[in-house]
Amino acid sequence: MKAPFDLEWIRAQFPALTQEMNGQRVIFFDGPGGTQVPQVVIDAMGDYLVKSNANFHGAFATSARTDELIDSARSAIADFLGCDRDEVVFGANMTTLTFAFSRAIGRQLQAGDEIIVTRLDHDANVSPWCALAEERGVIIRFVDINVTDCTLDWSDLERQINQRTRLIAVGYASNAVGTINDIAAVVRLASKVGALVFVDAVHYAPHGPIDVKALNCDFLACSAYKFFGPHVGIVYGKRQHLASFKPYKVRPASEQVPFCWESGTQNHEGLAGIVAAIDYLAQIARHLQPVEGACAEQADTGKQQAFRSSAKQSTSFYPNRRAAIVKVMKAIQKYELSLSQQLICGLAEIPGLTLYGITQPERSSWRTPTVAIRLAEHTPFSVAKALGDRGIFTWHGNFYAINLTERLGVETNGGLLRIGLVHYNTQQEIQRFLQALHDIAAMSASSI
Ligand SMILES: Cc1ncc(COP(=O)(O)O)c(C=O)c1O
Repeated sequence: MKAPFDLEWIRAQFPALTQEMNGQRVIFFDGPGGTQVPQVVIDAMGDYLVKSNANFHGAFATSARTDELIDSARSAIADFLGCDRDEVVFGANMTTLTFAFSRAIGRQLQAGDEIIVTRLDHDANVSPWCALAEERGVIIRFVDINVTDCTLDWSDLERQINQRTRLIAVGYASNAVGTINDIAAVVRLASKVGALVFVDAVHYAPHGPIDVKALNCDFLACSAYKFFGPHVGIVYGKRQHLASFKPYKVRPASEQVPFCWESGTQNHEGLAGIVAAIDYLAQIARHLQPVEGACAEQADTGKQQAFRSSAKQSTSFYPNRRAAIVKVMKAIQKYELSLSQQLICGLAEIPGLTLYGITQPERSSWRTPTVAIRLAEHTPFSVAKALGDRGIFTWHGNFYAINLTERLGVETNGGLLRIGLVHYNTQQEIQRFLQALHDIAAMSASSI
């Protein structure tokens, strides 16, 4: 499938993609661990440090610019998630923020209250809730997975939820095996018993549009370094929750929402990078390819061409940045689906390979292009090392999704090899990767 956007333009935005090893371009299939950043993000962070570097709320120019920047970063994330600015909280990373939110929510829980977590999740959406079991006598219930395709066991979720359930902590998508969960359905189930839903969207965020209002979740966390930005954590919280739960904070800090949730001084250069990362995503709207043969989209195609030809008028054809982002994320989703299918088909031909997760093409909209495998006779580390030596960067281990690797029975023998694609990856890269994996699979463990 031809990419639905100008892939050459996309790749040219990312200086890291020009790195070479042994005379060949490096292949970055390590996206779920952290994506590369476009030049505009690097420039924005440097610019901030040169021109605006200061603490906030001061009576001088650089501090005033910092205040404006913080506002712009909140607006950018509001456009990315489909919420209002004052529902966006920044912090060091998703894990730190989730601990902060779990402790604040925990203040209102009683011994015997229940929280549901899942075996599919990254531990950052498990351990913060489990800590409440020790501290407040909260009961933690684990929802199991269907081992055959690494999806959530829905009937187990329905069995575990009850009148004492106060919160469900669930991932939007698995960072280990790529499964996407039906968050809107989880929220509907939770609302029957009045439970809150805390969504970990860290892995999902670079792969598809997020609309927190449509999902109707109570909280949703993500991390900008997974969607082409710098290392900053983000939590969306419904306004009424941010106002009613009581964060742990120092006395002089603002009591106002959302500032009261932001401990200490923020990573201002990181926030500058966030604005640039979101603008980069919106900018892709100008580089969308005309949709072939789709009558319903023809009018839209005309708009896209006009949109592309007028560089400064990004909002004149898409009503606003949010609309451009949604359009782009849908195009990314479509492109990544074709990459997933190519990768999964190619992997099926490698002898001795086990693939964990959804494989059927008709269900591929329920997975991200993050694919976990093991090769018989080889450890995930040795395969990652052999690929790394060939300039192909993949991850090995448990990726902190430790309940999952334990459940799959691979935790004690090296975990998984994870191939993680994002929209700057190409079909040619997948071909080169598959050839390398064929070669590695044919070698004995001692010779790679
Ligand atoms: C699904 C998922 N959740 C949470 C995290 C933790 O995010 P952070 O590094 O921002 O704490 C990660 C990091 O890899 C992740 O992939």
